[in-house]
Amino acid sequence: MWKQAIEDAIQKTRDNVQRFGNRFPHVSSSGKYELNDNEDWTNGFWSGMLWLCYEYTGDEMFRDAARLTVNSFRTRMDRHTVLDHHDIGFLYSLSSKAQWIVEKDEEARRLTLRAADVLLRRWREKGEYIQAWGLQGDPQHGGRMIIDCLLNLPLLFWAYEQTGDERYRLVAVKQADQSRRFLVRGDDSSYHTFVFDTSTGEPSGGATHQGYHNGSTWARGQAWGIYGFALAYRYTRDGAYLETAKRMAHYYCRNLPEDHVAYWDFNAPITPQTYRDSSASAIVAAGLLELLSHLEDSDKGRAALEECLTQSMESLVRNYSTVGDPGAEGLLKHGSYYVRGNAAPDDYMIWGDYYYLEALLRMDKGLKGYWYE
Ligand code: GLY
Repeated sequence: MWKQAIEDAIQKTRDNVQRFGNRFPHVSSSGKYELNDNEDWTNGFWSGMLWLCYEYTGDEMFRDAARLTVNSFRTRMDRHTVLDHHDIGFLYSLSSKAQWIVEKDEEARRLTLRAADVLLRRWREKGEYIQAWGLQGDPQHGGRMIIDCLLNLPLLFWAYEQTGDERYRLVAVKQADQSRRFLVRGDDSSYHTFVFDTSTGEPSGGATHQGYHNGSTWARGQAWGIYGFALAYRYTRDGAYLETAKRMAHYYCRNLPEDHVAYWDFNAPITPQTYRDSSASAIVAAGLLELLSHLEDSDKGRAALEECLTQSMESLVRNYSTVGDPGAEGLLKHGSYYVRGNAAPDDYMIWGDYYYLEALLRMDKGLKGYWYE
């Protein structure tokens, strides 16, 4: 089953290289990817898919296309185009860092270190968090940390490994600690964001941006937490992160509906119209593979997480993928982006496609993606 899904995904990505040219797929709302220039938070996922396809097939066509995306990320860095946000890790881990991992290209390494510096500048001493959006002091966005940022921390941990510069490691560790403290709740659910007073740094309260309400558990936020804490454990070996990833994963898995793919928010009322978020389930599958790689065979919760992984992936392939639809552009249907904001709520999401492919290739081939070397 995995093999067929992989072959299907590789062929669609091959077709998409022709279709997309030098533009980047973002989300779709009617089966056609919205293409944009390299100026959104999502552009790295396309680059990552190309590197994965190259690693899997060895086909130089994928490598050349992937290299072109890295050139585009270099121009973006040189011009500082839409980089004043925390998503730098999503962008550069899967593009230039991927190129470094695959090809040991020195320029790609240098570009990735520049990206880590951009992210480091978002650290706010008062409150001790990485500011999610906007510039320092921004009245609308300042003072906000966000659970998604956990997937940006591997860029900082990697920069520390490369340079020995403690600043990267300290910021990454503190952000992970603050995320545990403020974003993860006692029942192992999570806030999407947490707000601080920008002038004093005092914590003010949990809030959502894309979830159902301020106290709800947005499915993709929980997914970022599971994968992000598992990766923080890989880099630090701090057992608290492993424990948090495990607990969040159990929360996620025990609250899944019958077909094992999450609704967009765990607190949204369920009606026949309620959207799923297949992308959250793809992130969780990739995150569970990482988490399980750290758990002992004797770990009490291991079997439940393994079962959750298998059931989720089987359902994604059978019920949500475009396997069997050769003309489709995307790999996973029924992703959600910003349901309350009504932004492309029920179709392909490029990050869903990326994590789905990453999970498939890790399960079948041991290819692990580009969050760590
Ligand atoms: N990181 C943005 C999102 O998950 O929609």
